[in-house]
Amino acid sequence: MLRLPAVVVNFKLYRQASGKNAVELAKKIDYVAKETGASVAIAVNPLDFHFVKDSVEIPVYLQHVDAVDFGARTGRINVEIAKEHGVDGILVNHSERRLKIADIEYLVSRARKVGVDTMVCTNNPSVSAAVAALGPDYIAMEPPELIGGDISVSKARPEAITETINAVKSIKEIPVLVGAGVKNGEDVRRAVELGAKGVLVASGITKARDPKAALMDLISGLM
Ligand code: G3P
Repeated sequence: MLRLPAVVVNFKLYRQASGKNAVELAKKIDYVAKETGASVAIAVNPLDFHFVKDSVEIPVYLQHVDAVDFGARTGRINVEIAKEHGVDGILVNHSERRLKIADIEYLVSRARKVGVDTMVCTNNPSVSAAVAALGPDYIAMEPPELIGGDISVSKARPEAITETINAVKSIKEIPVLVGAGVKNGEDVRRAVELGAKGVLVASGITKARDPKAALMDLISGLM
């Protein structure tokens, strides 16, 4: 389980965060996490997983796992094989990889059984409440229209953060992280002040000229 509040960096398929670059970026993030004592995790693609996992001590998630059992499934991976490979957690239902609710439920329950954390992404308060009923370890609410942009969810949609936290709480006590457009410590601070247990961030780190400095800045908002 992640120590909260946390910063979770999704590497997506950014060139700056894939292949050899994934390892380099992961090492920088690991260094900053150690220096600051902050709780930071990363989410990488399955091809990069082992190279990254072997180079860092921070938790390493996968960005997606298929909701399937073993068998005749070409080009798929499942939670069980992720566990066998040492995956710490999985992002589920990311805005760029949406799933049916039945698949989300399948992944959450399988992951719980084998001991892999689940961070289920949602787009608004009501979907977050629906997902809370499935009992994931974390919910990460990201308004899709703000993803990859320069205005953060905490500045543009603070009410969505508080509404999500309240909606989730009314169903189950599940930590809510938020993301989309998060770029600096001030964005993180606002999110945490509103009750978020951390942030899910991508371009603010992966595309930063100096990822270490960008992460330091984000972490300053956790304190
Ligand atoms: O998974 C995090 C993500 O969707 C947010 O992306 O680039 O807005 O930080 P970004």
